[in-house]
Amino acid sequence: MNNGHSIQVTLPFASDSLLIAIADEYGTPLYVHDENSYRRYGREALAAPNAFGLSVRYAMKANSHRAILSIFDSMGIGIDASSGYEVRRALAAGIAPDRIKLTSQQVLPAGILKELVELGVVFNATSLLQLRRFAELFPGNACPLSVRINPGLGSGHNNRTNTAGRGASFGIWKDYLPEVLNIANQSSLTISRLHSHVGSGSDWRVWQKAARMTLDIARDMPDVRTVNLGGGYRIDRMTPENSMDFQTAFSPVKEAFEEFAAETGRELLLEIEPGSYLAANSCILLSRINDIVDTGVDGYRFLKLDASMTELLRPMIYGDRHSIRLLARKDAATTSYVVVGMCCESGDLFTPKQGNPEEIDTVLLPEAETGDFVAVMGAGAYSAAMSVKNYNSRPACAEVMILSDGSHRLITRAQDVEEIWSRELQLWNQTDNCSHRTPDKLMPG
Ligand SMILES: Cc1ncc(COP(=O)(O)O)c(C=O)c1O
Repeated sequence: MNNGHSIQVTLPFASDSLLIAIADEYGTPLYVHDENSYRRYGREALAAPNAFGLSVRYAMKANSHRAILSIFDSMGIGIDASSGYEVRRALAAGIAPDRIKLTSQQVLPAGILKELVELGVVFNATSLLQLRRFAELFPGNACPLSVRINPGLGSGHNNRTNTAGRGASFGIWKDYLPEVLNIANQSSLTISRLHSHVGSGSDWRVWQKAARMTLDIARDMPDVRTVNLGGGYRIDRMTPENSMDFQTAFSPVKEAFEEFAAETGRELLLEIEPGSYLAANSCILLSRINDIVDTGVDGYRFLKLDASMTELLRPMIYGDRHSIRLLARKDAATTSYVVVGMCCESGDLFTPKQGNPEEIDTVLLPEAETGDFVAVMGAGAYSAAMSVKNYNSRPACAEVMILSDGSHRLITRAQDVEEIWSRELQLWNQTDNCSHRTPDKLMPG
C-alpha cells in the first residue's frame, strides 16, 4: 500500500529556496520554526466559541523552547506545565508565575510545592494524595486551587495518548468526588477550578461528551468558577485542513456552559490548554539525504536522511505519518521510497504504515539523489521536546526561527558532541591497578 502523494506536498510557511539557504547557513538536521504560524494557531485558539469568557494556556510539554513560550506569552496565552522542571523552565523564560498552571503526574516534595504555590503558580491536584499534600501546606487556601478529574471517558489518536477512562491513571477518578469534597471541607479549601484532559488528538465528539460529564461534576462543586477542558485538539500533520475546527467543535460546548448557567446561575469561565494544535504545524524538520540503498527489484528503495528518531520520534512510537517534501525537485512524484533515519534501529522510520509503527510503507517523491534536501512537516510538537536525544551519540541539532518580518534567527545552537559525555565521571583513575581497563586503553588507536 502507498500512502504517498502523487504530487509533492506544499510547504506551509517557507519556499524551497529559503529552506535550502537556511540549511546551507546552519547545516542539517535542523528544526525551522515560523513565528507567524505559531501566532496564527494561537489566534485560532483564542477565538474559540465560549459562553462567559475564555482563557487559553499552551501545554508547554509539546515544545518548551523559550522562544515559543515568549510568542504565546506575548499573545496573552498562559502556560500549562507538566512537571516542576517545566515550571522552572517557564520561569527562566520570563513567564510570570501566576500565568503558569502545574498539572503534574508526580507528587512533588512538600518544599517544592510550597515554593511554587507561594510564587503564584496555580496548582492542579491530579490525585487524592496530591490534594492532601496541598491541604497540609495551605489549609484555608488563599491561593488558587484546581483539581483534575478523570470524567470516565477518554479519547486519543491512539491508546497511548488516551488519558481518561478506567485505563488511565491521570486525574482523580470521578467516583472519588465525595472524598475530594471531604478533604476540601476538612481543610477549608476553596477549589476554584475543575480540570479534565481526556487525551491527545482526541475524537472531538468524545471530547464534547467528556466536557458535559465534567460540567456535571462541577455542579457538585459550588466554588468552581473555571472549567478547564484540557488540550488534545486534533491537528492533522499530513493535511492541516482536516484538523479540528474550533468553531464547529466548541459551539456545542458553549451551549452546554449556557445550559449550566441557566440551571445553576453560575457563569463558568472556559479554559483550554492545547499543545499540539498550537505548535505542531509551525515547524519543519529539515534534513539531507545521506545515502540511498535498495533491496533489489522486488524490494524497497530507502532514502537515508541525516535526521532520525533522535529528532522526530512520533512515527516510530505512534506510527504517525508526517508530510515529506523533496526540496528543489520538479513537482511530479514518481518514485516510491521508504524514508529512514541514521540510527541503528530498524524502527527508525519516517514512513511507517499509518497507525502501525511495526510496518513499513512508502511515500511517492520525485527521483532523489544523495545530498538533496528533505523537509519533514509537522515537527513543532512532541518532536524536539520528546526525542530520544543523543541516541547513537548523535548531538542535538540546531533550531532556527523565521520571524514575522521574514528574517530568521538561530534560537538553539547545535550541541557539541563532547557535551554528550561531559557529565560522566571516570570509573577508574590513571593510577588504578586495573589500568588495562581504563577508558584510555579502550579507545581505538
Ligand atoms: C494535562 C494536559 N493538558 C494538555 C495537553 C496537551 O495535549 P495536546 O498536545 O494533544 O493538545 C496534555 C498532553 O498530554 C496534557 O497532559
